[in-house]
Amino acid sequence: QASPRYTFVVEETPYRRLCSTKNILTVNGQFPGPTLYARSGDTIIVDVYNKGNRNITIHWHGVKQLRNPWSDGPDYITQCPIQPGGSFTQTIMFSSEEGTLWWHAHSEWDRATVLGAIVIYPNRGATYPFPKPHAEFPIILGEWWKEDMGQLYKKTIQNGGEPNMSSAFLINGQPGDLYPCSKPDTFKLMVDYGKTYLLRLINSAVQEIMFFSIANHKVTVVGSDASYTKPFSSDYVTISPGQTIDLLFTADQSPNHYYIAAKAYVGGAGIVYDNTTTTAILQYNGNYTSTSIPSLPNLPSHNDTKASVHFTGSLRSLADQNHPVDVPRKITTPLFYTLSVNTLPCLNNSCAGPNGTRLSASVNNISFVDPSIDILQAYYYHVNGVFRTRFPNFPPLLFNFTAQDLPLYLQTPKQGTEVKILKYNATVEIVFQGTNLVAGDDHPMHLHGFSFYVVGWGLGNFDKDKDPLTYNLVDPPLLNTIAVPVNGWTTVRFKANNPGVWFMHCHLDRHMSWGMDVTFIVENGKGLGAQILPPPPGMPPC
Ligand code: C2O
Ligand code: CU
Repeated sequence: QASPRYTFVVEETPYRRLCSTKNILTVNGQFPGPTLYARSGDTIIVDVYNKGNRNITIHWHGVKQLRNPWSDGPDYITQCPIQPGGSFTQTIMFSSEEGTLWWHAHSEWDRATVLGAIVIYPNRGATYPFPKPHAEFPIILGEWWKEDMGQLYKKTIQNGGEPNMSSAFLINGQPGDLYPCSKPDTFKLMVDYGKTYLLRLINSAVQEIMFFSIANHKVTVVGSDASYTKPFSSDYVTISPGQTIDLLFTADQSPNHYYIAAKAYVGGAGIVYDNTTTTAILQYNGNYTSTSIPSLPNLPSHNDTKASVHFTGSLRSLADQNHPVDVPRKITTPLFYTLSVNTLPCLNNSCAGPNGTRLSASVNNISFVDPSIDILQAYYYHVNGVFRTRFPNFPPLLFNFTAQDLPLYLQTPKQGTEVKILKYNATVEIVFQGTNLVAGDDHPMHLHGFSFYVVGWGLGNFDKDKDPLTYNLVDPPLLNTIAVPVNGWTTVRFKANNPGVWFMHCHLDRHMSWGMDVTFIVENGKGLGAQILPPPPGMPPC
């Protein structure tokens, strides 16, 4: 049976939001882009044509792509970008993922407009581990800028520290009726009284973690990052950029219209952010006299770290017979990664960051620099001089990570294209430790090529004697993106059973672009089934 095949044409398309029109990059003219549908274990093919005016790549966020890093997508990590006029046929290989993922551009900040949902159904004959919903809808949270994304990227990267504030947040591409000129286009979700619905919530925002809520309706979380969770009920959801949350709700209130709303959660003090609220309408079908103005749901306040970690800390794997938990217990590769945003010294308008920037970001004081050709190609064909393999397992010095007055040399990261080599089948533990160098913030860390078990988290400095005793090895959630709380830590575990080159980075794009990135190379194992597949024809040239 042939694999389902999609065509993605990346092109400039005029879109009108907030009373003005601009050209944005879209796929097939759609914003948000087309939804991909698959069943667990499927392979699908996407022919990507770049008819836009700048380099682009496409990434299938959360799809593990076993042994197939070639189609993963991050530019200069697994491929050279597709140049204007070029094309690339990508093979998307699903394995155990089931639920909701998404795809997005993985070059500069073009994922603001180049993105869409991926819906992965259970295999034929299998069912959801929850009652079948009456209907299901993707709900994509996003951000809109009045500026051109290419220009905004250059400005922010080159000047560093420019505010990254968007002009609006979006629900399914629409700002909603609290913004000028947006009311008639506000996204509407039509429901029947008494029925239960599945929402596939995706946070595609470029720079912000979000709170989400539906007025008067509780939601039941049943999955995250294409892995089922123990159902739990909540008034609101915290969702990181990159993350997906599957949730059920029942239209059991008096027939009317209700607000659906989302706004930013910002962990650190002093961070400039978009403090507006995006809305959609939940509307019951039928004849009823509607009360005039719906009220907004109670969203936690923008800096409510407690509310944020309370939600994320409630996620548990389903951990039943059909969905067993396989968390590594014996760790062969313990890693301790500090996450920092750094202000760099400046002299005569030129600062020490990438391209003279003032701000940079780092992991273990290494600020990642893109190589000139992709790391996968350099690794596979043994091209010397593209990257080095000395990424440190621990920070240069153990210090009080959450203090604000650190010695200058700890505030100035080293720049380099350092990668971390992992042995095939290594059992890896990463303790992420947030630091507070410039302004602490939550860092939604995302790993390509794997899902990881989130076995523990806490506020303050990680205590290597006490904190591991609190680890959950019974039903930890299996995710691909986890927000490391501001001034806190998070521990994840995974088995390096997927040979290839896999990127890991903060999913706030400003931090990713400033260098809060680690590239892993997972070596081949013994036997063909433990080795990287050969490259497909037509890899784009640099
Ligand atoms: Cu959603 Cu590296 O990306
Ligand atoms: Cu970050």
